[in-house]
Amino acid sequence: YTDNSFSQRLLKWFDAHGRKHLPWQQNKTPYRVWISEIMLQQTQVTTVIPYYQKFMERFPEVTDLAVASEDEVLHFWSGLGYYSRARNLHKAAKKVVSEFSGTFPRSVEQLMALPGIGRSTAGAIASISMGIRAPIMDGNVKRVLTRYFAIHGWPGQTRVANDLWEIAEKLTPESRTGDYTQVMMDLGATVCKRSKPTCQACPLEDSCIAHKLGQERLFPESKPK
Ligand code: ADE
Repeated sequence: YTDNSFSQRLLKWFDAHGRKHLPWQQNKTPYRVWISEIMLQQTQVTTVIPYYQKFMERFPEVTDLAVASEDEVLHFWSGLGYYSRARNLHKAAKKVVSEFSGTFPRSVEQLMALPGIGRSTAGAIASISMGIRAPIMDGNVKRVLTRYFAIHGWPGQTRVANDLWEIAEKLTPESRTGDYTQVMMDLGATVCKRSKPTCQACPLEDSCIAHKLGQERLFPESKPK
């Protein structure tokens, strides 16, 4: 599956159908993409938009966030939930300022050393804002890949997770790696949905194994009891 056509078909679909005008898709700096990725982790796009805009008005740069009080950061997060995200955001901003002079580190490994940034979020920031070839692995991507390759087993299981990361790594293209990251999430959210996926609208329809077998609903498998 060193399959160029996988990413090429997706990128073509992105040009025609992908979302390109969300607030965090303009001026894609590491700071702006980082804030958006954290907000989008457990919250829907339409909910995030007004929070993102107010947050960016008040904290336009990582230094503005680093010098703010935790109370004020939490105030701007109020209503988004999962407040540890905001506390980690604040801690990470302080660390970027104190350890990296306010410039985000330019590697997945160093990004992962910041509070609240796991491997997938680091991959999203690195690919979208820096053009670094790095895969992501959120719920959308797990669904797309387990269906396309008919990968059995629960993705929370180490062996399955390792396989998925390895496949994702190989499928990630050298060029337009940020658009590719975005299209994997968009496809999973809008076409390759958990229930009633709209396979006839999918650019991968003719080679998706689960679709061929009529088994979309079997993937991804859930946690064994
Ligand atoms: N969820 C997490 N990151 C996202 C992104 N960049 N676009 C849409 N949904 C997301």
